[in-house]
Amino acid sequence: MRTTVGWQAAGSPARLRRVPLKRRDLRPDDVAVRVDHCGVCHTDLHALSGHDGTHPLVPGHEFTGVVTETGAAVTGLGVGAPVAVGNIVDSCGECPMCRVGQENFCHAFPTLTYGGTDRRDGTTTLGGFSREYVVRDRFAYPLPAGLDPAAAAPLLCAGITVWEPLRALGVGPGSRVAVVGLGGLGHLAVKLAVALGADTSVVSRSPAKADDARRLGAEGLIVSSDPAQMAEVRDRFDIVIDTVSAPHDLGPYLRLVAMDGTLSQVGHLGTLTVDALDLLVGRKKLSSAGSGGTPATAALLAFCADKGITADVEVLPSARVHEALDRLRRNDVRHRFVLDLSDLD
Ligand SMILES: NC(=O)c1ccc[n+]([C@@H]2O[C@H](COP(=O)([O-])OP(=O)(O)OC[C@H]3O[C@@H](n4cnc5c(N)ncnc54)[C@H](OP(=O)(O)O)[C@@H]3O)[C@@H](O)[C@H]2O)c1
Ligand SMILES: [Zn+2]
Ligand SMILES: [Zn+2]
Repeated sequence: MRTTVGWQAAGSPARLRRVPLKRRDLRPDDVAVRVDHCGVCHTDLHALSGHDGTHPLVPGHEFTGVVTETGAAVTGLGVGAPVAVGNIVDSCGECPMCRVGQENFCHAFPTLTYGGTDRRDGTTTLGGFSREYVVRDRFAYPLPAGLDPAAAAPLLCAGITVWEPLRALGVGPGSRVAVVGLGGLGHLAVKLAVALGADTSVVSRSPAKADDARRLGAEGLIVSSDPAQMAEVRDRFDIVIDTVSAPHDLGPYLRLVAMDGTLSQVGHLGTLTVDALDLLVGRKKLSSAGSGGTPATAALLAFCADKGITADVEVLPSARVHEALDRLRRNDVRHRFVLDLSDLD
């Protein structure tokens, strides 16, 4: 085994402590990555609040860094290569989903970057709030030149999670898109939808984010708590991407969807209640998505390099991880915290 250093949850409520961590020795198809930057996703907050101590928890599943060592069978990546890793680090490779490049929907369930179970040794995976990560080569993506490594890290979870539904739903020039919730996922959804040519609006409970919304390329911000503003955009959008991180009623957002349009709910990953009438009136569709397959992730990185898209980030030394988590919990972030892990050396 190799040792590195990272931020592991301990206690209840969970706090992160800087501790030595073990990483596996490289398998033939592994690369070792020096983690330089890791985004702080709202899922990390959910994981910490749900942590019961039965398995070790090191959060972090959108990171960039540099390859420091390669296994004997690795051909596509060399030492020194800048890479990006997202929230999936393995899959069965054989099921129908894996065969079409949708490893995120693997029938045997993909191995998650943290809190997952390694397919070969059964250990619990430990995430990117750490100075080193060992990953199967096909889940380490070459980071295109020109993308700032700190600002690119959030593309690997927040970005791909909104990119797949935008693409799958055919968003392009002339599409009318609304993004609900202007956080980490939401601000990237706005940038990507705008870059795909869509007329894009933001729906938010925070009127103070209106200037941000316009700066990101949106036409404007609709305040979700204002019934008059919501009524004005009834049936307006072909696609609504809902990134709200808490349980909520989908009705108000379904009413913004145009006839035969789709609400893609990617934020809250639990039980939702839907009044069928909100789907019936206007023949509306409800869908979801999460993470991405390897071809879509590579396509997203190429698109972002071409268009110059990265996340708007506030970079903090990793020792300030609690400040990042507390401010994310309070909705005080524009629009993604990224930890700089170099302070772990
Ligand atoms: N599907 C997937 O695979 C996947 C991947 C990554 C993350 N997620 C999930 O997606 C959600 C968003 O993640 P994130 O990192 O983007 O979080 P985030 O940065 O905290 O953004 C969430 C946004 O939702 C809005 N919001 C939060 N609480 C709300 C409430 N109670 N009612 C209405 N709006 C609320 C806020 O926007 P406004 O201030 O603009 O209203 C907030 O900025 C999380 O639940 C996360 O676990 C899912
Ligand atoms: Zn995430
Ligand atoms: Zn599979």
